Amino acid sequence: MNLIVCENYEEVSQKAFEIMKEIVASKPNATLGLATGSSPIGLYKKMVEDHQKHNTSYEAITSFNLDEYVGLSKDHPESYYSFMYHNLFDHINIKEENIHLPQGNGELEQRCNEYEAEIAKYVVDIQLLGVGRNGHIGFNEPGTPFTQTTHIVTLDDKTIQDNARFFNNNVNEVPTQAITMGIATIMKAKKVLLIASGENKAEAIYNLVHGEIREECPVTVLQKHADVVVIVDKAAASNLK
Ligand code: F6R
Repeated sequence: MNLIVCENYEEVSQKAFEIMKEIVASKPNATLGLATGSSPIGLYKKMVEDHQKHNTSYEAITSFNLDEYVGLSKDHPESYYSFMYHNLFDHINIKEENIHLPQGNGELEQRCNEYEAEIAKYVVDIQLLGVGRNGHIGFNEPGTPFTQTTHIVTLDDKTIQDNARFFNNNVNEVPTQAITMGIATIMKAKKVLLIASGENKAEAIYNLVHGEIREECPVTVLQKHADVVVIVDKAAASNLK
């Protein structure tokens, strides 16, 4: 595991951008696994600026997102679909048909199977991850078997509390379920890039680096992956030995 500790969020975003850019520049038809949430916003901003300034092309890039809430329509402002278009896809030249986001409505089991089958046609060159305070990756909450592929989850209370900030600070507005790539799906990526900032991630980062590998803390599974880069700020690194 390659651990990079940065001064602050800006530096985390810059370092993550350099890794992402290296892949997009060296492999124009790369497959990117993408994440939502607060963590990647700075990175996406840098990808957009770079595309505008240097014409970095996403024309042949394919993307797969990690997860989506169940029951929100695509055009809901807090759907991960809206998030991705607003923060990235609307501002780069990725082709609509190369964008894949799990869909959290309709026949859910079929949605999971179709998404997993679609990803299986590709090799994800780099999977971007944030991490939950409780160690979740994607929406794989504590206790999720490491063998799990794309599935429907019931969100943990901590996750609902943390995400209430996007839903008028009202836990009752946060969807209680999500569709997520499974841990087995995530682990198939060639490279994993995990970014985290802030003290509330310190325990999860401690577990990732020093903790025992266990399903109760999903992020620890990354210790078994051959190519993981972890980029954190000082606050998220504050529990490390
Ligand atoms: C998002 C995702 C989640 C987030 C995690 C951290 O697609 O899969 O695992 O990465 O909840 O969220 P933030 O970055 O908002 O702290």
